Amino acid sequence: MAELLGWRVAWCLDGFGFLKMWQVDCAKNTVTAMLPFQQRLRALKRRIAGKTHQIHEQSVYSGGFDQIAFLSEAGLDLRDSTILELGTGWYPVIPLMLRLAGARQIILTDAHPLLDRETLKAAVDFLILRRTDLAERLGTSVEKIEETLSYPQDAPVDKALDELGMTYRVQATLNTMNVRVDAIISHTVLEHVPPSVIVDLLEQSREILRPGGVISHGIDHSDHRAHRDARLSRVDFLRYSDAIWRLLCLNPQDYTNRLRHSDYVAMVEAAGYELILERPLMDPVARTDLDGLALAPRFQSRHPDDLAVLWTNIVARPKATDKAVQGT
Ligand SMILES: C[S@@+](CC[C@H](N)C(=O)[O-])C[C@H]1O[C@@H](n2cnc3c(N)ncnc32)[C@H](O)[C@@H]1O
Repeated sequence: MAELLGWRVAWCLDGFGFLKMWQVDCAKNTVTAMLPFQQRLRALKRRIAGKTHQIHEQSVYSGGFDQIAFLSEAGLDLRDSTILELGTGWYPVIPLMLRLAGARQIILTDAHPLLDRETLKAAVDFLILRRTDLAERLGTSVEKIEETLSYPQDAPVDKALDELGMTYRVQATLNTMNVRVDAIISHTVLEHVPPSVIVDLLEQSREILRPGGVISHGIDHSDHRAHRDARLSRVDFLRYSDAIWRLLCLNPQDYTNRLRHSDYVAMVEAAGYELILERPLMDPVARTDLDGLALAPRFQSRHPDDLAVLWTNIVARPKATDKAVQGT
């Protein structure tokens, strides 16, 4: 392990002997990946650091409105619906927004237990701050927003979630959860999931969707290291072979599958869904960056316009002929 760590830190050193921001993060994450109880450590760090919560407004607030709009466009009546979110993370902002838009029950799921009382409060406070805008855009009143977001703040997190119309399931397999839902959504999750697991998730999703139910996934195809280091191209990771990329993703939280927009469309269709909506957003800067990039063999035959799509929304429903959908 020490040898591997040494190799990885060496890899992070660039030719000029200085470390770029993402490379520092990469080395730091490698070390933390080797530590046990990461989640608890992170929560402890947050407490010691004075509870600084970083909710990416740009991403989750607009992502929440997008999900509401896409589900409505797909013909789903949000009122009284049950929605399952894959990969809630720390801050259940989008699920709370779906509740504000009328959803009856939200089932939050995750591979890791990230959400706690503190992060729940941060998400609620984040939305309370924006209650006027929310009321306007969701066609409701500020009072209704406040009422929907009120919960006993001293209660254990499960009780608090219950009051907010939500439940939290960690490491649960969708089709053994004994639930039926009207929609399954995710935001910046699928890119962190290995392709074979996405195939399983799509299969299990079909089994728990009610007739007329839909999936709606927002996927970030960019090189996530560029989120921390603006000097790095957002398609930089396409130059690495799979073997090298696996080593650079030693910390599971760094892992991204590097699937492109068309890969997801193909997987969704192969899993027996029909597309209702796809919104691939091609990034012009990434498109230009690709001209100067020596692509790994896996990506060389791909169309640059597909490689340069850095964000996708995909909404789909099981094909009508599917037995699971017809409940037969
Ligand atoms: C980048 S975070 C996104 C969190 C949240 N959806 C948001 O937009 O803020 C990715 C989330 O996906 C979760 N995740 C990763 N693999 C998963 C899997 N196979 N099933 C469910 N969740 C998963 C992670 O634990 C993490 O909470």
